[in-house]
Amino acid sequence: MGDIEDGEALKVPAESTGHGDAIAVFHDNGAYYALDDTCSHGQASLSEGWIENGEVECPLHSARFCLKSGEPQCMPATVAARTHRVEVRDDAVWLHPG
Ligand code: FES
Repeated sequence: MGDIEDGEALKVPAESTGHGDAIAVFHDNGAYYALDDTCSHGQASLSEGWIENGEVECPLHSARFCLKSGEPQCMPATVAARTHRVEVRDDAVWLHPG
């Protein structure tokens, strides 16, 4: 999956997730999280957002989502981002689309 610097995200394209949708994998304070890449509010890529305090801010209308739960933290998003399980094993990040 390649290295993801702390505070950065990686977009895994739909062809690679086997899931039908692209998934964004986030690295925040040493932990990894994964959410559907497409914002629940519109056509924006959450992997291009800003990561801070366990949340990602959508680059289009600035809704923030909890990286752990996917729950929206502020308007305009009202629908949670779907979460996926991420596991670190043998120094590699494994994504389990759910
Ligand atoms: Fe993400 Fe509007 S598209 S908040």
